Amino acid sequence: MAVKMAVIPVAGHGTRLLPLTKSIPKELLPLGGKPVLQHVVEELQAAGLRELTMVTSKSKDAIGRHFSRDTALEEQLRSAGKEKELESLSFAGADSVFHYAEQKHQKGLGHAVLCAREIVGDQPFMIALGDALMGDAMTGDECNGKISALHAENRASLCKRMIRVFEHSDADAVISFQQVSLEKVNRYGIARLLPGYVDGDDAFDLAGLVEKPTVEAAPSQYAVAARYLCKPAIFEYLARTPPGHGGEIQLTDALQSLIDDGGKVLGVPLRNAEKRYDVGNFESYYAAFIELALADPEYGESSRQLMGKLLRDNDKES
Ligand code: UTP
Repeated sequence: MAVKMAVIPVAGHGTRLLPLTKSIPKELLPLGGKPVLQHVVEELQAAGLRELTMVTSKSKDAIGRHFSRDTALEEQLRSAGKEKELESLSFAGADSVFHYAEQKHQKGLGHAVLCAREIVGDQPFMIALGDALMGDAMTGDECNGKISALHAENRASLCKRMIRVFEHSDADAVISFQQVSLEKVNRYGIARLLPGYVDGDDAFDLAGLVEKPTVEAAPSQYAVAARYLCKPAIFEYLARTPPGHGGEIQLTDALQSLIDDGGKVLGVPLRNAEKRYDVGNFESYYAAFIELALADPEYGESSRQLMGKLLRDNDKES
């Protein structure tokens, strides 16, 4: 069955970014000129996913407003001849259907996905974390070293590869993985690979997932990376999953149960320049913002000059 649906959990409290996220949903924080969630939506749309289900909460109603048309504002811009500004709002009318499911109590990522069960129904679906976008802001080799904007098309390539792997296998789930340095394995769900994977292959077979292992216990350096493609059977597993790490219902625990039951789960590694841009904590948010600002097609050049000057001044002072 073709994959058309994506579930985007955006109901978390975002406590690591307080006080910034007290009234602003972390998924609406800017990355360059757009909220991170708009980048995520464009990534999914470019991969051909046009049914988008946001799992949200009452206190995050600004998210629904961002993706709805504001006809009064559009009319005002039109009559003022502000065509460029009007064009910047066209994403809200793009040919996608937005659904909203409510997560009343923030019981974790796995629970948030379960809240979308009725809307998803009996079809495979992508899960895309609403606080992380995938892709390469600085396309490097592909652009002869020239910096280019983070185009939706190149961002979509990971999701497209996951969909292709899913459609050409009998996998029950496909998960994306990024390679992390050894000292960071204790922050992520880490893959245990079945033998047979050759570097450069599109996918590997997963023997299991180890949540936040110590450096010594880490079975690999492949860390779960914000995109999952699942058959609807995952809902059964989520419904049976007890609270785990941090007292929350974890998606990785449900996926582990699926593997334990003999389910086939594949891992798709990020390629060369592909990265995860994550706004989950201040360090990763600043890093992502700087990188996207420097890659901005309009303001990137002046931002790079400013950055160069600040760094030179800083070097002189020290
Ligand atoms: P995080 O794991 O970063 O959790 O969520 P969080 O609760 O938002 O942030 P902290 O840890 O308190 O700082 C990853 C994605 O899953 C969503 C979040 O909104 C985010 O987009 N999420 C998380 C939910 O929708 N519901 C939850 O119960 C937890």
